[in-house]
Amino acid sequence: MEPFVIVLFGATGDLARRKLWPGMQHLFEAGLMPDEVRIVGAGREAPDHDLVADWPKELHELVTMTSASADHHEDLVKDVQAAHAQLGDGSRTMFYMSIPPSAMTDMVDMLGRSGLADDRARIVMEKPFGHDVDSAKALNAKLHEHFAEDQIFRIDHFLGKEAAQDVLALRFANRLFEPLWNRHHVAQVRIDVPEELGLEGRASFYEETGCFRDMVVTHLCQVLGFVAMEPPSSLDAGHLRDRKAEAFAALRPFTAEDAIYGQFEGYRDEDGVAKDSTVETFVALRAWVDNERWRGVPFYLRTGKAMAQAKRTVEVVLREPEGDLYDGEHAPNIISFELLDDPQLAVQVRVKVPGPTSAVAPTALSVDVDRALRTEGLEAYERLLHDVFRGDHLLFTRADEVETLWERAAPLLADPPAVKPYKKGSWGPEEAVAWFS
Ligand code: BG6
Repeated sequence: MEPFVIVLFGATGDLARRKLWPGMQHLFEAGLMPDEVRIVGAGREAPDHDLVADWPKELHELVTMTSASADHHEDLVKDVQAAHAQLGDGSRTMFYMSIPPSAMTDMVDMLGRSGLADDRARIVMEKPFGHDVDSAKALNAKLHEHFAEDQIFRIDHFLGKEAAQDVLALRFANRLFEPLWNRHHVAQVRIDVPEELGLEGRASFYEETGCFRDMVVTHLCQVLGFVAMEPPSSLDAGHLRDRKAEAFAALRPFTAEDAIYGQFEGYRDEDGVAKDSTVETFVALRAWVDNERWRGVPFYLRTGKAMAQAKRTVEVVLREPEGDLYDGEHAPNIISFELLDDPQLAVQVRVKVPGPTSAVAPTALSVDVDRALRTEGLEAYERLLHDVFRGDHLLFTRADEVETLWERAAPLLADPPAVKPYKKGSWGPEEAVAWFS
């Protein structure tokens, strides 16, 4: 890996504190950082070094904190240039934009004006990328004024989760699953990410963004892309993203008829939330991929805050056998992926109940991947940071994909369903429960 100056915008934000600073420390410790690196933490005010207080001294010394905003880049330029001077010729810059969607365009513009967006730069764009199709196109246009597409890494950390990549591995590295992976054998697909967490102090982001933009058009749709895409001809980023973009192009536009929005009771009492907010904290969406492979198969997507239980599962539910020779419970085969850092894969099957009976009962063939392979993967953000160092776009989203998703979302954004209240700790509004039972 080439030497890197990493510039982290939003250095004091929630994401940086929870994932990015710790992730960099872990990459160092795992020997997966470039050998030569400097880190510049940037905020409107220069952030406090306390952010890396628990880093070992030798890493601590690699960090500078600086102030930068859309109309003030002098300190940033000075600190980035000083860092490059230490690393010498051939060093690159990574700009990690961990800032609210509404601030992106101006900050990208600032990078252009400052002269920092040169050939050696790579820019990582946090999601959501824009807030609708026009703003996404405008943001892409702004980026392309200063950066070539291969310098841009639009991050969606769900694609960095090991188990999301296992969707591809199970499909394309085995003979067992792919022949079944179509409407002739699949009854439905469920992508289910209920969260127990509430707002966690992110009210202003959430009021601006809402659940659909925060999670659905981003993480859940990207995972849908891995499930629905045709086989790529290689694991090259270009091939894979072409197939994913085609799957998105085949999505039927989302409408209120196929969507249920909810808001947990008490949301409006949270600090920073409008008393009459209609922002959704829960979405269930029935999506359709209108192509030869998937026509007629519903893809149920669900996610929400303050729900009964946290899960991150993808389930491909197969049709039941046409004739049933056995007594006992009916239960379809379900191929399931738990999108954890420690991936869990399973196939629900019916086996014969031991003893003098012809009954069958459902159970699971399951794999705990880390345990089975005696290894441990990286946390999603760590994996993706490492990919940026290596210049690999495989797990990042491309301009056209993101714009297509916003286009498909446009009818729903223009005319969303009424937001229904739901109790904290529940499974969301009543109507949505049936979709997932
Ligand atoms: C983030 C969303 O992108 O993903 C959060 O902004 C959400 O609202 C989070 O809680 C979930 O990610 P993970 O990795 O914890 O499943």
